[in-house]
Parts: sequence; structure tokens; C-alpha cells
Amino acid sequence: MNTSPVFLDAKPVSYMIGEQALDHSSKLLVNYPRYVLLVDNNTRNYCLPVFREHLPEFRETDVICIESGEEKKNLDQALFIWKELTRLNVDRDALMINLGGGVLTDIGGFVAATYKRGIAFANVPTTLLGMVDASIGGKTGIDFGKFKNQVGLFVDPVSVVIDPVFLKTLEEKHWQSGFAEVLKYGLIMDRELWQWLYGKDFHEIDFWDKIIVRAARDKIDIVRHDFEEKGVRKNLNFGHTIGHAFESFFLKKETPITHGQAIAAGMICEAYISEKMTDLECSRKEEIVEMIDKNFSRLSVTKEDVPALIDLMRQDKKVREGKLRFSLIKRLGKAVHDKEVSTDLVLESLEYYLHDR
Ligand code: GLY
Repeated sequence: MNTSPVFLDAKPVSYMIGEQALDHSSKLLVNYPRYVLLVDNNTRNYCLPVFREHLPEFRETDVICIESGEEKKNLDQALFIWKELTRLNVDRDALMINLGGGVLTDIGGFVAATYKRGIAFANVPTTLLGMVDASIGGKTGIDFGKFKNQVGLFVDPVSVVIDPVFLKTLEEKHWQSGFAEVLKYGLIMDRELWQWLYGKDFHEIDFWDKIIVRAARDKIDIVRHDFEEKGVRKNLNFGHTIGHAFESFFLKKETPITHGQAIAAGMICEAYISEKMTDLECSRKEEIVEMIDKNFSRLSVTKEDVPALIDLMRQDKKVREGKLRFSLIKRLGKAVHDKEVSTDLVLESLEYYLHDR
């Protein structure tokens, strides 16, 4: 069955989302005298041919290719893109099209927003995580020193084109990674989405188009209300305070895990904390934990690793005046933010993660 993509005019951003979004997006991307495409070594091979097949008007467009990977989201790579834009004589009325996952749309947006005081850019995400999260909401930036997203700015793309066609070549671990964020939308704001997914293993899901449209709309809804993360956008951090600590912990050990694996573990701990601190019923917490365990293996951490995890949490951007603040679940589809949580309760939640399996 052929469905039409959803067009959303959410000023200042235009969105085209769903199957055949690319085929319907020429109108979103026209009206610029000059275009430049940013890809990485993966998207150049797998996604650029698809992009050009669906949008033949971009066949001759200049391409800048960067290296893929979170460790490349750095100043050197930004410098490389600025140099390439300069070498290609790209001027201020150009549009830069970022074709890639979250790392590429983050750095691409940052470079575009700072080159010649800012040129327009569009995001065309190619991973599930990019489609339901990173490409939407204007967070751009690079990592600096040991800190993730230390330098950057909030700036919206002019358009975002989300077409699941790119997922055909996505590795399984990246599907799983994006799925953690999809589950999160169900928990923090979209009980119906949770109900579509509950009880399923992500391998058996065959309605990704519907899920992507729904999750992307959820994110758009949040960032339209709170672009600069002063309030409700913080709800998106559910699972992330502890999740980021897991992510950094494994990165330091040089055995990196995906963002989704880390966030899934974080959501188990933070569901435990939610039950202790909000009205979340125990049976609901168990439902959440059961669903996450169905889709993600528990991480191999031990009691000895707990102090290092706590230290990493204290370095998180969300810590203010030494206090750990969490976004928690109140009930399925409803989150609260800025909840101060004691270190003892965080420790308890890690114990729960280690032993309840
Ligand atoms: N990824 C979380 C946010 O965009 O706020």
C-alpha cells in the first residue's frame, strides 16, 4: 500500500515525514541559488545514491564528505567543513543539506550556523535515531575535550525530510538504538504509542513508517513548545541522566555501547526511581522494565563500577549546584522534570538494575 508522507509547516521549520517523503520534498528544498551536500563515508556509499535517485535535481550538487563516528564530532572535523565551504566558494544564500545520522546533523548544523554568520541548512536523517530525535529540535554542536556537545547552539534547520527508505541499509544495532528513543516517547508523552509497541520485540515490528511519523510528531510537538529546553523539553531526558553515565563509562573502557543501549539501561533505573518518587504504580514500572528487557540485554556492570557511574553522573550538564535532577515518569504517557533525587536513591536504582533480572 502506498501512503503519502505527512507535511507539517511548523514555522520556521517545514517537515516532510514518512514513506516517499524524499519524492515529495523538492518543493521544500528549492529556492536556493546554491546547494552543498554534507555526507559521511557511510552515507556517501549507501544513502547518497538513494537521495539522488529520488531527487534528481541534486545530481550535480557539490558534496563534502566527513568521517563517521561520535569520536569525529570534533573541532578538527568542523574546521575541515568550514575550509571546504570556503574552497567551494559557498556563499550566504546557499543551502547545506545534511545527509546522515545524529553526529552528522549535529556537526553539519553547527558548521552551517556559524559559516559566514550562518547559512540555511536542511536535515535528511538516515538512521532511526536521527529520524525520531537528533534531526528535530535545533540542537547542533560538537564534542570538546571529554565533554559531549560542549560547544554548539540551538538553531533550526529550514526543513527536515524524514524518509524511512534509508533504513533498508541500517545495521540492526542502530535500529535497536533508535527504538529506545521511540519507547521513551511512549513513556513520557504518548501512551497510545506505548500500547502499539508493548509486548513486541523490535525485530517483529512491521509498521515502522507509522511509528516514525508518530515519534517525530511527538518530538516536534515538544520542541515547538520549549525550543531552548527551559521546561517541558527536559522530559526528553528521561533515562538519560543515568543512561549518559553508562554511555561514558563504556566509552572510557574502550568498549563503546550504542546510545540506545545506554538509554534503555537508564530507563530501567529511572523507572525504579519514578516508582519511589512519583505516583507511578509498581505494576507499571514492571511493565516498563519487562518491555525494555525484551528488547535490550542488561549491560555488564558490577557493584564495583557503581562509584565510577555516580562520578560520571555528577559531570552531567543536568547537574545544578551538585544536585542530581531527573525527568521521571508519573504514569504511562506522562513525565515530570526537575525532580531532585538523592544519591542514595540513585544507588538503590543501580542495585535494582544489577540484581533484578
Ligand atoms: N535529544 C533531546 C533533545 O533534543 O532535547
